Amino acid sequence: MPTEFELVDLEEVDTPGDEWEEIDVTETEADRIARRRDREFEQFEKRIKDADQFKVEQSVFDDATFGALYKLVQDGHVEAFGGPISTGKEANVYHALGDDREVAVKVYRINASNFRQMRDYLEGDPRFEGLGGKKKDVVLAWVKKELSNLERARRAGVRVPDPIAAERNVLVMEYFGDEDGRAKRLGEVHIENPQTAYEVVREYMRRLYSAGLIHGDLSEYNIVFHDGQLIVIDLGQTVTVHHPNSRTFLERDCVNVASFFARQGLEVTDEGLLEFVTRPDPDPSGS
Ligand SMILES: Nc1ncnc2c1ncn2[C@@H]1O[C@H](COP(=O)(O)OP(=O)(O)O)[C@@H](O)[C@H]1O
Ligand SMILES: [Mg+2]
Repeated sequence: MPTEFELVDLEEVDTPGDEWEEIDVTETEADRIARRRDREFEQFEKRIKDADQFKVEQSVFDDATFGALYKLVQDGHVEAFGGPISTGKEANVYHALGDDREVAVKVYRINASNFRQMRDYLEGDPRFEGLGGKKKDVVLAWVKKELSNLERARRAGVRVPDPIAAERNVLVMEYFGDEDGRAKRLGEVHIENPQTAYEVVREYMRRLYSAGLIHGDLSEYNIVFHDGQLIVIDLGQTVTVHHPNSRTFLERDCVNVASFFARQGLEVTDEGLLEFVTRPDPDPSGS
């Protein structure tokens, strides 16, 4: 039952949103592995397909997705797959054993239906200029973007899952959970001290904004509580402040967060939150 929330220490903040990255979505090692189909890969794919936890999803995973999982195992990022944590609109998240710790493996489905919406988020992002509209390329760029957003958010002093590896349409990251299973979302726990939780969340929003990022889907569903900390997750749709719709996304995030904390009994408004997040040097006592 959360009572206290520690704010992680601030490391360094990037220059707002001016980072350009080479995004190569052409041929991945996972595609090559799937095409080559050597004996070891065939056995791996069969073993995974037969495993109980992948039963439901096997029909929606293409061969190259198995290639990506295989590559992650070969590279030592994943040692054994555990059960599914979540089956979402465009991705499934699995619990797995990594190199020396537990990891979460987020597998985007290439044939997910809402890739058009994904493309809209990518289109205004300077990091992904020149990307065509092919479904596969969009998903691949999406995963690379999520990894880079996680790295950037972490550098900006926002507690997010440690990104570990991205391979084609699969992202491996730090896992939060204990013997009772995955860490609970903010919306699933009783919050003893909503004021402190709110102060941490709005500070993370401000730090993200200062690093040139807007989460884009922030709410009690994409914040988890673990070990006395609040962790912001699901940064796939996170855009830079240069995105033409970034203001709309930010306002929507503020509405979601403020209304959640208002339901917890706090006197907060989305305008007040927006003002805090975008104010250059906010007074720490402000609301
Ligand atoms: N690193 C993680 N550790 C533990 N649970 C996680 C982690 N990442 C995601 N989850 C769980 O999986 C759910 C879905 O993940 P998320 O990244 O939000 O994908 P989606 O796009 O499907 O919402 C989350 O609500 C959370 O409960
Ligand atoms: Mg989510």
